Amino acid sequence: MASILHPSNHYDRQHNKNNIEETTGENSTFSSLEITGAVEMEIASRNPNSTAIDQTRLPEDHQGLFLTWEDLWVTVSTEKNKSKPILQGLTGYAKPGELLAIMGPSGCGKSTLLDALAGRLSSKIRQSGDILINGHEQTLAYGTSAYVTQDNALITTLTVREAVHYSAQLQLTDSMSAAQKKERAEMTIREMGLADAVDTRIGGSGWGTANKGGLSGGQKRRVSICIEILTRPKLLFLDEPTSGLDSAASYYVMSRIAALEVHSRRSIGAGGSRTIVASVHQPSAEVFRLFDSLCLLSAGKMVYFGPASAANEFFATSGFPCPTLQNPSDHFLKTINKDFELEKDIEQGFLVGAVPTVEEAIDTLIKSYKESENYQQVRRLVAEIYSTKQDYSEALGKKRIHASFLTQCPVLTRRSFKNMYRDLGYYWFRLAIYVGLALGLGSIYYNIGDKNRSIQARGSLIMFLASFLTFMTIGGFPSFVEDMKVFGRERLNGHYGATSFVVGNTLSSQPYLILISLIPGALSYYLPGLRPGGEHFVYFVSVLYTCMILVESQMMIVAGLVPNFLIGIICGAGFQGLMLLGGGFFRLPRDLPKQFWKYPLYYISFHKYAYQGLFKNEFEGLVFPGKVVGRSNIVSGEEILRDIWQVELGYSKWVDLFVLLGMVAFYRILFLVIVKTAEKGKTITAIFAAARHKRSIQIMENPVATPMHGEKGSRVMSW
Ligand SMILES: Nc1ncnc2c1ncn2[C@@H]1O[C@H](COP(=O)(O)OP(=O)(O)O)[C@@H](O)[C@H]1O
Ligand SMILES: [Mg+2]
Repeated sequence: MASILHPSNHYDRQHNKNNIEETTGENSTFSSLEITGAVEMEIASRNPNSTAIDQTRLPEDHQGLFLTWEDLWVTVSTEKNKSKPILQGLTGYAKPGELLAIMGPSGCGKSTLLDALAGRLSSKIRQSGDILINGHEQTLAYGTSAYVTQDNALITTLTVREAVHYSAQLQLTDSMSAAQKKERAEMTIREMGLADAVDTRIGGSGWGTANKGGLSGGQKRRVSICIEILTRPKLLFLDEPTSGLDSAASYYVMSRIAALEVHSRRSIGAGGSRTIVASVHQPSAEVFRLFDSLCLLSAGKMVYFGPASAANEFFATSGFPCPTLQNPSDHFLKTINKDFELEKDIEQGFLVGAVPTVEEAIDTLIKSYKESENYQQVRRLVAEIYSTKQDYSEALGKKRIHASFLTQCPVLTRRSFKNMYRDLGYYWFRLAIYVGLALGLGSIYYNIGDKNRSIQARGSLIMFLASFLTFMTIGGFPSFVEDMKVFGRERLNGHYGATSFVVGNTLSSQPYLILISLIPGALSYYLPGLRPGGEHFVYFVSVLYTCMILVESQMMIVAGLVPNFLIGIICGAGFQGLMLLGGGFFRLPRDLPKQFWKYPLYYISFHKYAYQGLFKNEFEGLVFPGKVVGRSNIVSGEEILRDIWQVELGYSKWVDLFVLLGMVAFYRILFLVIVKTAEKGKTITAIFAAARHKRSIQIMENPVATPMHGEKGSRVMSW
């Protein structure tokens, strides 16, 4: 079988990699001697004269993962039941020990291709074609593959070391000791060249971390990569690791990624090597030289697939030579970018017609690619791997298991506690405002007295505390949404499950909730002089505390349902307002309209139980002088409860508290169920879609050949 490697280009690439090691390797764990050794080994293993070069034998030799995809189509349905293809019949492969770059103008389907290869496409998107790992259709065990998304969802309040260490504790199996996990984390930090920034907080736009000089964009990206490679995945996907970075930062990030495949022999173990697939938006010439293979897409079609260094020649022979002094990757992207065609036409003015349009250029390139020896080789290789189907289970490594639930919960609790402590917006700002408000309440209701007039005052004070103070719990929502983003990424990457997250978050917030209900509670209880007696105060604070967790739980549900935090705040506030109106204070229970407001809103509004419990706590057993001065009539607390506040007196105030606690449990569990169903829903539909897709491949052999895959009895997606 013909070799796909283009020997003449090897030395250059390796030489370049060698240079990276020299320039960026100060913090590396490897001595330059070792690196040179590794690179030499790398070169030797790719020596074109060596008999071991046969591509199909690579998986065995390197125990790496050989990823192939054949005739991959991805379509989305647009409105009116039309479907739009995003990827059209792509065929290609990624080899162990190589960096494959996916390039193309924005919107050409790079992220979609990565998602499809990593098995992360949303269930609404349909996919057909074979994606095989070492010739097998298999899902990768946790830790064998990793995906670094385009946006950095990181906990901004943590330092680099903390973030990586916590992540190591969460991800690495329990059989590793704490010291080993720590060592792995430290080593990975050095590998990503972050040794100088270990004690810097990641920083971001969040509360309390803004304007505090965190990491640079490139460093953040490297932290994201660092976290994903802790498990030493053999297959690494990166979506635009360099977007938004300047050319120097991009080069540094990419050189670290490229160095990973050199390092991987050492870190994965003897003979191990990593397969890296990265989509890259706008590589500089230097970055471009780091790529081993290149996959060039235009509007979902393959324009070129093959050695990165042979791309220039391919463009030249197809009639689009790269002008001297121009960055080849810029030239490629410019040639195949359709977005600015109109502007170009205008610019070129009279030249229109003389120069081929972009559409024509793309067609020429696609045609020329299909006719090239390269394309034949790719297809042959993919077919060969598929037919050999050897058992490469050894290459997948031992089944990797992450830390157990019981290890993860305390780690998540500690991490979340630290984050809440450092993120001023989570609880501290609220505590300050609560204290201010409690002092305000204390001063306007100061020494409330036991006159008849105080009945109304006590009622209003309690109502304000039970509704407004709990309402303000919404203030912590943006911070929680940030938490959810991090959770979303980590769960998708399989670090831990929803239950661990909910348990960790619930436990870590308890000390803060106690603090923000106790201090303002005490101020607004004792300054006005509400009902004396320890038991009454404890009840009062317990209700405040329970209401705060309750509103927090409701806001979590909102966060689980609406991803945008601005819409979330509006929805959450609207929901609270509605409950408040139905709670039986603004309109007394007997006067509430029967439909909707009384049944069911009054009964499901937590304000009802909070008001009534607190009113009972305050008035039961007290007596007040009657309204008419001079006569010796008195009003008992029970009469007030029954006639003025229309409280249900059939049960004690403790029942009200228990109902509230029950609601807390209900809402927390509901949140967990929502998060879990989102997760399950995805897997169930994915399994269903996969089954359907298999059927379509087996049965629906479509004789109508399309230009993209006409050479072979073609398969067209059909659903
Ligand atoms: N879920 C989706 N529904 C509809 N269109 C989508 C969806 N995902 C991606 N697309 C479309 O597919 C094309 C490719 O998207 P993407 O893979 O994100 O491009 P890239 O990463 O190359 O910028 C875009 O035109 C985009 O609008
Ligand atoms: Mg993208």
